Amino acid sequence: MSNYHIKHLEEYYQVYRKSVRNPEGFWEEIAEEHFLWRKKWDNVLSWDFSKPEVKWFEGAKLNITENCIDRHLATRGDKTAILFEPNDPNDPAEHISYRQLYHRVNKFANVLKAQGIKKGDRVCIYLPMIPELAISVLACARIGAIHSVVFAGFSSTALSTRINDSDCKMVITSDGSYRGAKTIDLKGIVDEALLDCDCVASVLVAKRINSDIHMEEGRDQWLQPLLDAASDQLTAEVMDAEDPLFILYTSGSTGKPKGMVHTTGGYMVYTAYTFKNVFQYRENDVYWCTADIGWITGHSYIVYGPLANGATTVMFEGVPSYPDFGRFWEIVEKHKVNQFYTAPTAIRALAKQGTELVDKYDLSSLKTLGSVGEPINEEAWHWYNDNVGKKKAPIVDTWWQTETGGIMITPIPYATPTKPTYATLPFIGIQPALMDENGEEIKGNQVDGRLCVKFPWPSMARTIWGNHERYRDTYFSAYKDKYFTGDGALRDEVGYYRITGRVDDVIIVSGHNLGTAPIEDAINEHQAVAESAIVGFPHDVKGSALYGYVTLKDTGESRDHDNLRKEINQIITEHIGPIAKLDKIQFTQGLPKTRSGKIMRRILRKIAHKDTSNLGDTSTLLNPEVVQDIMDNAL
Ligand code: WT7
Repeated sequence: MSNYHIKHLEEYYQVYRKSVRNPEGFWEEIAEEHFLWRKKWDNVLSWDFSKPEVKWFEGAKLNITENCIDRHLATRGDKTAILFEPNDPNDPAEHISYRQLYHRVNKFANVLKAQGIKKGDRVCIYLPMIPELAISVLACARIGAIHSVVFAGFSSTALSTRINDSDCKMVITSDGSYRGAKTIDLKGIVDEALLDCDCVASVLVAKRINSDIHMEEGRDQWLQPLLDAASDQLTAEVMDAEDPLFILYTSGSTGKPKGMVHTTGGYMVYTAYTFKNVFQYRENDVYWCTADIGWITGHSYIVYGPLANGATTVMFEGVPSYPDFGRFWEIVEKHKVNQFYTAPTAIRALAKQGTELVDKYDLSSLKTLGSVGEPINEEAWHWYNDNVGKKKAPIVDTWWQTETGGIMITPIPYATPTKPTYATLPFIGIQPALMDENGEEIKGNQVDGRLCVKFPWPSMARTIWGNHERYRDTYFSAYKDKYFTGDGALRDEVGYYRITGRVDDVIIVSGHNLGTAPIEDAINEHQAVAESAIVGFPHDVKGSALYGYVTLKDTGESRDHDNLRKEINQIITEHIGPIAKLDKIQFTQGLPKTRSGKIMRRILRKIAHKDTSNLGDTSTLLNPEVVQDIMDNAL
């Protein structure tokens, strides 16, 4: 039996039991046998969830890029590491071998060094899905700089907030990006963001769309000439297992985004181990995750997890709808993709197109299909299973979070029998708990509650950048000695988990995690707006969409509501990005509030769900007349 590669259900249960009975011994063995350490650890794990403090492999020394690149050179030097598929299907794909990746990462790392970037410095990466994105991430890791990738769909305000929060010294971007038939002026967005950032000394610009852009004298430089002049040799910085590897922002239920900090050793071990098992990756397989590297899915399962296993990982620049909705399937056929990992929202959008485009391509290479980001509904699950996997490729519905670093609840394909809408069983080493309203753990099966984790796992985030207190309050204060996920879940009669959705003010729209507070803050900046409240409502493609209740300062009939709606969405686009736009905006006389002044979102949620037969306990409501008015005018 191999603990590293699980192939049967009995094996899963055996290894799982071992990992729970003796977590330190278990993870020590995995770490010891499958990775390259400059020095082994003094202690496998120390932890205290009340502080909270978690350390894995303390005292160990390593560089994650030596694990993701250098150690494969002897046996996989010519193997494709990154398979880049451009936006335009007529442009050739680019195969970057492990050896080429080694040279390109070294060159990039030398450029960073020459620009004065040192171990511990923060570097913001704002790039489209082009090879430079993965390479710059790895180059940072190679010299010990902490990368903070910001998804290139975020607006200039969202970008500057993130740059300032972690005090980034440098921004890496491109002249622009391709997105289907459109181009986006990324450099223009960076220029605008940097008007508000004093910490950034230099900007490196990759050329992608050959647009005519402004280059700020003394700050901006074209990347390519610097790379051309740089050496392709560089010794990796020796890092401590607990040194930060990256910061990645996720929105929370209050104001500012949270800069989740992930460290090096545990993150590497867990993302590599989960990748191997959740996708059943075998040598020479071609693996494709359609996420953007701007999200945690891309960090863990396009870059680090696959490369740590010496895999071939596809990076796709484009969108599923360009030049038509057959694009994903065309790529699967062209590159003979074996593992395909995408989000339910994409599946629903593609399912809407019927089966003609999916039937047109040869998808017989597919062995495992993944889903992530939000609950996958039954209909989408069956469409994926029937038309993409032809009932032969198991679906792994993987539940996890930016904060967890790696996949937490998931089937193991060909081992765990799948069940539509169920993420099924905890991954090896993961100890979930369902909690009731009184803070007690609910034991047994056929129960539901709030999902927590009661024991540390190697890839968990260690803190929120610059705000450890917020980290403790958000994740470790709701339930004593437990990590609280913010999700609700149920456990069925055999112990399978089904995630039922967020129980806080975070809404998952098209798989993107959106906090309501930052959107409300943006709306409230409109001079005509007095107050606002956002809730989610079911949407057939996005899963959830946003419904905004907005109260105006002057409720006079004279305002043009359609125009106001446009302006509100414009403000949201400027502050956060187009992903946070509202589908419905209802102007209201007031918002339902408790006597202590808290907005009763529960009621607003029911109205948005068109589920008003029973509004629940309304005895604490200060202004019941408002509720009737909102119901009468609901959209
Ligand atoms: C939230 C985390 C890490 C994946 C990308 C999203 C929801 C994620 C599932 C799933 C049901 C899911 C949860 C979670 N979620 N995967 N398979 N089934 N819900 O990362 O932006 O940090 O969002 O996404 O609500 O808490 P994220």
